[in-house]
Amino acid sequence: MTDALGQMFDELLPAELPAPRAFTAYAPSNIALSKYWGKRDAGLNLPLNSSLSISLGHWGSETRVGPATDGVDRVWLNGQELSPDQAFATKVFRFVDLFRRGADLPVHIVTENSIPTAAGLASSASGFAALTLALAGAFGLDLSKAQLSRIARVGSGSASRSLWHGFVRWDKGTKPDGSDSHARPIDITWPEFRIAIVPVDTGPKLKSSRDGMNHTVETSPLFANWPTQAETDCNAMETHVLMRDFAQLGPLAEANALAMHATMMAARPSLNYLKPESWAVLERLWLAREQGLAAYATMDAGANVKLLFLDQSTDDLTSIYPQIQIFSPFDYQSENASKGA
Ligand code: PMV
Repeated sequence: MTDALGQMFDELLPAELPAPRAFTAYAPSNIALSKYWGKRDAGLNLPLNSSLSISLGHWGSETRVGPATDGVDRVWLNGQELSPDQAFATKVFRFVDLFRRGADLPVHIVTENSIPTAAGLASSASGFAALTLALAGAFGLDLSKAQLSRIARVGSGSASRSLWHGFVRWDKGTKPDGSDSHARPIDITWPEFRIAIVPVDTGPKLKSSRDGMNHTVETSPLFANWPTQAETDCNAMETHVLMRDFAQLGPLAEANALAMHATMMAARPSLNYLKPESWAVLERLWLAREQGLAAYATMDAGANVKLLFLDQSTDDLTSIYPQIQIFSPFDYQSENASKGA
Protein backbone atom coordinates (compact mmCIF):
# COMPACT_ATOMS: atom_id res chain seq x y z
CA MET A 1 0.00 0.00 0.00
CA THR A 2 1.33 3.48 -0.77
CA ASP A 3 1.48 6.13 1.96
CA ALA A 4 -0.91 8.30 -0.03
CA LEU A 5 -3.44 5.48 -0.15
CA GLY A 6 -3.15 4.87 3.59
CA GLN A 7 -3.63 8.58 4.20
CA MET A 8 -6.72 8.63 2.00
CA PHE A 9 -8.38 5.86 4.02
CA ASP A 10 -7.29 7.43 7.33
CA GLU A 11 -8.99 10.64 6.25
CA LEU A 12 -12.21 9.02 5.05
CA LEU A 13 -12.71 6.39 7.77
CA PRO A 14 -12.95 6.64 11.57
CA ALA A 15 -9.79 5.64 13.46
CA GLU A 16 -11.48 2.47 14.70
CA LEU A 17 -14.06 0.45 12.83
CA PRO A 18 -16.89 -1.33 14.65
CA ALA A 19 -17.32 -5.10 14.25
CA PRO A 20 -18.96 -5.67 10.85
CA ARG A 21 -22.68 -6.39 10.55
CA ALA A 22 -24.17 -8.18 7.54
CA PHE A 23 -24.86 -5.81 4.67
CA THR A 24 -25.76 -6.46 1.01
CA ALA A 25 -25.30 -4.00 -1.84
CA TYR A 26 -25.78 -3.98 -5.61
CA ALA A 27 -23.92 -2.08 -8.34
CA PRO A 28 -24.44 -2.18 -12.13
CA SER A 29 -21.71 -2.82 -14.66
CA ASN A 30 -20.89 0.01 -17.08
CA ILE A 31 -19.54 0.57 -20.59
CA ALA A 32 -17.46 3.68 -21.32
CA LEU A 33 -18.58 5.77 -24.29
CA SER A 34 -15.55 8.02 -23.79
CA LYS A 35 -12.72 5.88 -22.47
CA TYR A 36 -10.34 5.96 -19.54
CA TRP A 37 -6.88 4.76 -20.62
CA GLY A 38 -3.75 5.74 -18.70
CA LYS A 39 -2.97 6.60 -15.08
CA ARG A 40 -1.27 9.67 -13.73
CA ASP A 41 -0.82 8.01 -10.31
CA ALA A 42 -0.71 4.23 -9.99
CA GLY A 43 -0.96 4.10 -6.18
CA LEU A 44 -4.10 6.22 -5.90
CA ASN A 45 -5.36 4.99 -9.29
CA LEU A 46 -5.78 8.46 -10.76
CA PRO A 47 -6.52 8.79 -14.48
CA LEU A 48 -4.89 11.02 -17.07
CA ASN A 49 -8.31 11.82 -18.56
CA SER A 50 -11.98 11.98 -17.63
CA SER A 51 -14.37 9.33 -18.96
CA LEU A 52 -18.10 8.89 -19.46
CA SER A 53 -20.11 5.68 -19.30
CA ILE A 54 -23.57 4.17 -19.41
CA SER A 55 -24.52 1.73 -16.65
CA LEU A 56 -26.09 -1.62 -17.43
CA GLY A 57 -29.02 -1.60 -14.98
CA HIS A 58 -29.69 -5.10 -13.71
CA TRP A 59 -26.46 -6.49 -15.19
CA GLY A 60 -24.09 -6.10 -12.29
CA SER A 61 -22.85 -7.50 -8.98
CA GLU A 62 -24.59 -8.13 -5.69
CA THR A 63 -22.24 -8.44 -2.76
CA ARG A 64 -22.84 -9.33 0.86
CA VAL A 65 -20.26 -8.59 3.52
CA GLY A 66 -20.79 -10.13 6.93
CA PRO A 67 -18.86 -11.01 10.08
CA ALA A 68 -16.75 -14.18 9.82
CA THR A 69 -18.37 -16.45 12.39
CA ASP A 70 -15.37 -18.80 12.10
CA GLY A 71 -12.86 -15.97 12.43
CA VAL A 72 -11.42 -16.56 8.93
CA ASP A 73 -11.63 -14.32 5.85
CA ARG A 74 -13.52 -16.14 3.07
CA VAL A 75 -14.94 -15.17 -0.31
CA TRP A 76 -17.53 -16.86 -2.54
CA LEU A 77 -17.99 -15.94 -6.19
CA ASN A 78 -21.12 -17.11 -8.00
CA GLY A 79 -21.77 -19.84 -5.43
CA GLN A 80 -18.20 -21.17 -5.20
CA GLU A 81 -15.76 -20.50 -2.42
CA LEU A 82 -12.41 -19.27 -3.76
CA SER A 83 -9.12 -20.46 -2.40
CA PRO A 84 -7.35 -17.57 -0.62
CA ASP A 85 -4.42 -17.65 -3.04
CA GLN A 86 -6.60 -17.20 -6.13
CA ALA A 87 -5.90 -13.87 -7.85
CA PHE A 88 -9.47 -12.60 -7.38
CA ALA A 89 -9.51 -13.45 -3.65
CA THR A 90 -6.13 -11.77 -3.13
CA LYS A 91 -7.38 -8.63 -4.89
CA VAL A 92 -10.58 -8.56 -2.83
CA PHE A 93 -8.82 -8.91 0.52
CA ARG A 94 -6.12 -6.40 -0.41
CA PHE A 95 -9.03 -3.98 -0.90
CA VAL A 96 -10.74 -5.00 2.37
CA ASP A 97 -7.41 -4.45 4.17
CA LEU A 98 -7.45 -0.80 3.08
CA PHE A 99 -10.59 -0.42 5.21
CA ARG A 100 -9.37 -2.56 8.15
CA ARG A 101 -5.90 -0.93 8.38
CA GLY A 102 -4.45 -3.79 10.42
CA ALA A 103 -7.47 -4.34 12.70
CA ASP A 104 -8.55 -7.93 13.29
CA LEU A 105 -12.00 -7.83 11.67
CA PRO A 106 -12.40 -10.99 9.56
CA VAL A 107 -15.26 -11.01 7.05
CA HIS A 108 -17.16 -13.36 4.79
CA ILE A 109 -17.88 -11.97 1.34
CA VAL A 110 -20.47 -13.47 -0.98
CA THR A 111 -20.72 -12.02 -4.46
CA GLU A 112 -22.96 -12.91 -7.39
CA ASN A 113 -22.62 -11.49 -10.89
CA SER A 114 -25.79 -11.19 -12.94
CA ILE A 115 -23.83 -10.43 -16.11
CA PRO A 116 -24.21 -13.43 -18.41
CA THR A 117 -20.81 -15.04 -18.88
CA ALA A 118 -21.58 -15.24 -22.59
CA ALA A 119 -21.61 -11.45 -22.76
CA GLY A 120 -17.87 -11.51 -22.04
CA LEU A 121 -18.01 -8.31 -20.01
CA ALA A 122 -15.53 -7.63 -17.25
CA SER A 123 -17.12 -7.57 -13.83
CA SER A 124 -14.43 -5.58 -12.03
CA ALA A 125 -16.37 -2.30 -12.33
CA SER A 126 -19.57 -3.59 -10.75
CA GLY A 127 -17.64 -5.93 -8.44
CA PHE A 128 -15.54 -3.26 -6.76
CA ALA A 129 -18.44 -0.79 -6.66
CA ALA A 130 -20.71 -3.34 -4.93
CA LEU A 131 -17.90 -4.36 -2.58
CA THR A 132 -17.28 -0.72 -1.65
CA LEU A 133 -20.96 -0.18 -0.87
CA ALA A 134 -21.23 -3.44 1.08
CA LEU A 135 -18.10 -2.73 3.15
CA ALA A 136 -19.28 0.81 3.88
CA GLY A 137 -22.65 -0.59 5.02
CA ALA A 138 -21.10 -3.43 7.03
CA PHE A 139 -18.79 -1.05 8.92
CA GLY A 140 -21.51 1.60 9.30
CA LEU A 141 -19.55 4.29 7.46
CA ASP A 142 -21.14 7.63 6.82
CA LEU A 143 -19.73 8.53 3.41
CA SER A 144 -21.08 10.56 0.49
CA LYS A 145 -21.50 8.97 -2.97
CA ALA A 146 -18.50 11.02 -4.18
CA GLN A 147 -16.35 9.63 -1.37
CA LEU A 148 -17.56 6.09 -2.09
CA SER A 149 -16.71 6.63 -5.76
CA ARG A 150 -13.14 7.62 -4.77
CA ILE A 151 -12.83 4.42 -2.74
CA ALA A 152 -14.26 2.23 -5.54
CA ARG A 153 -11.78 3.92 -7.93
CA VAL A 154 -8.90 2.45 -5.94
CA GLY A 155 -10.21 -1.09 -6.62
CA SER A 156 -10.69 -0.48 -10.34
CA GLY A 157 -10.89 2.86 -12.15
CA SER A 158 -14.08 1.98 -14.00
CA ALA A 159 -15.69 0.99 -10.65
CA SER A 160 -15.80 4.68 -9.72
CA ARG A 161 -18.55 5.05 -12.38
CA SER A 162 -20.60 2.01 -11.26
CA LEU A 163 -22.19 3.69 -8.23
CA TRP A 164 -24.99 5.18 -10.34
CA HIS A 165 -27.43 4.08 -13.03
CA GLY A 166 -27.70 5.86 -16.37
CA PHE A 167 -24.96 8.08 -17.81
CA VAL A 168 -22.07 8.77 -15.46
CA ARG A 169 -18.94 10.89 -15.81
CA TRP A 170 -15.71 10.31 -13.92
CA ASP A 171 -13.93 13.66 -13.60
CA LYS A 172 -10.18 13.10 -13.69
CA GLY A 173 -9.55 15.79 -11.08
CA THR A 174 -6.27 17.65 -10.73
CA LYS A 175 -5.37 17.35 -7.03
CA PRO A 176 -2.39 15.13 -6.18
CA ASP A 177 -4.35 13.44 -3.36
CA GLY A 178 -7.13 12.44 -5.78
CA SER A 179 -9.89 13.96 -3.65
CA ASP A 180 -11.48 15.52 -6.76
CA SER A 181 -11.14 12.39 -8.91
CA HIS A 182 -14.54 10.72 -8.63
CA ALA A 183 -17.61 10.09 -10.71
CA ARG A 184 -20.96 11.91 -10.79
CA PRO A 185 -24.27 11.06 -12.45
CA ILE A 186 -25.45 12.94 -15.53
CA ASP A 187 -29.03 13.89 -14.89
CA ILE A 188 -30.76 12.65 -18.01
CA THR A 189 -32.86 9.67 -19.01
CA TRP A 190 -32.94 8.39 -22.56
CA PRO A 191 -35.36 5.43 -22.73
CA GLU A 192 -34.65 4.70 -26.43
CA PHE A 193 -30.90 4.29 -25.86
CA ARG A 194 -29.67 0.72 -26.49
CA ILE A 195 -26.47 -1.24 -26.13
CA ALA A 196 -25.90 -4.64 -27.66
CA ILE A 197 -23.04 -6.97 -26.93
CA VAL A 198 -21.66 -8.95 -29.85
CA PRO A 199 -19.82 -11.78 -28.10
CA VAL A 200 -16.58 -12.57 -29.91
CA ASP A 201 -14.46 -14.12 -27.18
CA THR A 202 -15.57 -14.81 -23.63
CA GLY A 203 -12.28 -16.26 -22.38
CA PRO A 204 -10.01 -14.45 -19.93
CA LYS A 205 -8.15 -11.48 -21.39
CA LEU A 206 -4.48 -11.77 -22.23
CA LYS A 207 -3.40 -8.64 -20.37
CA SER A 208 -5.30 -6.87 -17.61
CA SER A 209 -6.43 -3.34 -18.36
CA ARG A 210 -4.05 -2.13 -15.64
CA ASP A 211 -1.01 -3.76 -17.31
CA GLY A 212 -2.28 -2.84 -20.78
CA MET A 213 -2.64 0.83 -20.01
CA ASN A 214 0.70 1.04 -18.22
CA HIS A 215 2.43 -0.61 -21.18
CA THR A 216 0.70 1.81 -23.58
CA VAL A 217 1.63 4.90 -21.55
CA GLU A 218 5.24 3.75 -21.25
CA THR A 219 5.94 2.65 -24.83
CA SER A 220 3.39 3.96 -27.36
CA PRO A 221 4.58 6.94 -29.41
CA LEU A 222 0.92 7.64 -30.19
CA PHE A 223 -0.06 8.00 -26.55
CA ALA A 224 1.18 11.60 -26.15
CA ASN A 225 -1.88 12.90 -27.94
CA TRP A 226 -4.40 10.73 -26.07
CA PRO A 227 -4.99 12.56 -22.74
CA THR A 228 -5.88 15.88 -24.42
CA GLN A 229 -7.99 14.27 -27.15
CA ALA A 230 -9.77 12.02 -24.64
CA GLU A 231 -10.61 15.01 -22.42
CA THR A 232 -11.99 16.94 -25.40
CA ASP A 233 -14.02 13.86 -26.42
CA CYS A 234 -15.38 13.40 -22.89
CA ASN A 235 -16.53 17.02 -22.69
CA ALA A 236 -18.22 16.81 -26.09
CA MET A 237 -19.78 13.46 -25.13
CA GLU A 238 -21.36 14.99 -22.04
CA THR A 239 -22.95 17.69 -24.19
CA HIS A 240 -24.26 15.11 -26.71
CA VAL A 241 -25.73 13.04 -23.88
CA LEU A 242 -27.42 16.08 -22.33
CA MET A 243 -28.87 16.99 -25.74
CA ARG A 244 -29.82 13.33 -26.44
CA ASP A 245 -28.00 13.88 -29.75
CA PHE A 246 -27.36 10.37 -31.05
CA ALA A 247 -26.13 11.59 -34.47
CA GLN A 248 -23.17 13.21 -32.67
CA LEU A 249 -22.75 10.76 -29.81
CA GLY A 250 -22.51 7.56 -31.89
CA PRO A 251 -19.68 8.62 -34.24
CA LEU A 252 -17.75 10.19 -31.37
CA ALA A 253 -17.99 7.06 -29.18
CA GLU A 254 -16.71 4.89 -32.05
CA ALA A 255 -13.88 7.30 -32.93
CA ASN A 256 -12.84 7.55 -29.28
CA ALA A 257 -12.71 3.75 -28.87
CA LEU A 258 -10.73 3.28 -32.08
CA ALA A 259 -8.29 6.03 -31.07
CA MET A 260 -7.72 4.24 -27.75
CA HIS A 261 -7.06 0.96 -29.56
CA ALA A 262 -4.72 2.76 -31.98
CA THR A 263 -2.57 3.94 -29.05
CA MET A 264 -2.30 0.32 -27.88
CA MET A 265 -1.50 -1.07 -31.31
CA ALA A 266 1.35 1.41 -31.59
CA ALA A 267 2.77 0.28 -28.21
CA ARG A 268 6.10 -1.55 -28.41
CA PRO A 269 5.52 -4.48 -28.49
CA SER A 270 2.05 -3.96 -29.92
CA LEU A 271 -0.99 -4.63 -27.76
CA ASN A 272 -4.09 -5.96 -29.51
CA TYR A 273 -7.28 -6.86 -27.69
CA LEU A 274 -9.32 -7.00 -30.90
CA LYS A 275 -9.48 -10.27 -32.85
CA PRO A 276 -10.15 -10.85 -36.57
CA GLU A 277 -13.80 -11.59 -35.58
CA SER A 278 -14.03 -8.17 -33.88
CA TRP A 279 -12.90 -6.50 -37.10
CA ALA A 280 -15.41 -8.58 -39.08
CA VAL A 281 -18.20 -7.27 -36.81
CA LEU A 282 -16.96 -3.71 -37.40
CA GLU A 283 -16.74 -4.13 -41.17
CA ARG A 284 -20.29 -5.47 -41.31
CA LEU A 285 -21.42 -2.49 -39.24
CA TRP A 286 -19.67 0.01 -41.50
CA LEU A 287 -21.34 -1.59 -44.53
CA ALA A 288 -24.77 -1.31 -42.87
CA ARG A 289 -24.05 2.31 -42.01
CA GLU A 290 -23.38 3.10 -45.66
CA GLN A 291 -26.88 1.79 -46.25
CA GLY A 292 -28.32 4.15 -43.66
CA LEU A 293 -28.21 2.25 -40.34
CA ALA A 294 -27.49 4.53 -37.36
CA ALA A 295 -25.47 2.21 -35.12
CA TYR A 296 -21.94 2.61 -33.79
CA ALA A 297 -19.41 0.44 -32.00
CA THR A 298 -17.22 0.63 -28.93
CA MET A 299 -14.64 -1.85 -27.66
CA ASP A 300 -12.74 -2.17 -24.38
CA ALA A 301 -9.80 -4.27 -23.18
CA GLY A 302 -11.20 -7.39 -24.82
CA ALA A 303 -12.34 -8.69 -28.20
CA ASN A 304 -16.11 -8.21 -27.80
CA VAL A 305 -17.83 -5.42 -29.68
CA LYS A 306 -20.59 -3.33 -28.12
CA LEU A 307 -23.09 -1.64 -30.41
CA LEU A 308 -24.78 1.66 -29.60
CA PHE A 309 -28.09 2.53 -31.22
CA LEU A 310 -31.64 3.72 -30.61
CA ASP A 311 -34.64 1.46 -30.24
CA GLN A 312 -35.87 2.18 -33.78
CA SER A 313 -32.83 0.28 -35.18
CA THR A 314 -33.38 -2.86 -33.07
CA ASP A 315 -34.95 -4.98 -35.83
CA ASP A 316 -32.25 -4.09 -38.36
CA LEU A 317 -29.52 -4.96 -35.88
CA THR A 318 -30.99 -8.29 -34.85
CA SER A 319 -31.26 -9.33 -38.48
CA ILE A 320 -27.60 -8.45 -39.10
CA TYR A 321 -26.30 -9.94 -35.83
CA PRO A 322 -28.70 -12.66 -34.63
CA GLN A 323 -26.36 -13.51 -31.71
CA ILE A 324 -26.49 -10.11 -30.00
CA GLN A 325 -27.73 -9.50 -26.47
CA ILE A 326 -29.58 -6.21 -26.33
CA PHE A 327 -29.71 -4.08 -23.24
CA SER A 328 -32.00 -1.15 -22.40
CA PRO A 329 -30.07 0.85 -19.77
CA PHE A 330 -33.09 2.84 -18.59
CA ASP A 331 -35.45 -0.10 -18.04
CA TYR A 332 -34.06 -0.54 -14.59
CA GLN A 333 -34.95 3.00 -13.59
CA SER A 334 -38.47 2.81 -14.93
CA GLU A 335 -38.95 -0.52 -13.09
CA ASN A 336 -37.81 1.22 -9.92
CA ALA A 337 -39.91 4.26 -10.57
CA SER A 338 -43.01 2.13 -11.11
CA LYS A 339 -42.39 0.52 -7.72
CA GLY A 340 -42.20 3.99 -6.23
CA ALA A 341 -38.59 3.47 -5.11
O1 PMV B 1 -10.55 0.54 -14.56
P1 PMV B 1 -10.35 -0.67 -15.36
O2 PMV B 1 -9.13 -1.40 -14.96
O3 PMV B 1 -11.60 -1.52 -15.40
O4 PMV B 1 -10.06 -0.19 -16.89
C1 PMV B 1 -11.06 0.23 -17.76
C2 PMV B 1 -10.51 0.37 -19.14
C3 PMV B 1 -11.54 0.45 -20.26
O5 PMV B 1 -12.61 -0.43 -20.02
C4 PMV B 1 -10.85 0.03 -21.57
C5 PMV B 1 -12.05 1.88 -20.47
C6 PMV B 1 -13.08 2.38 -19.49
O6 PMV B 1 -13.13 3.61 -19.33
O7 PMV B 1 -13.85 1.60 -18.94
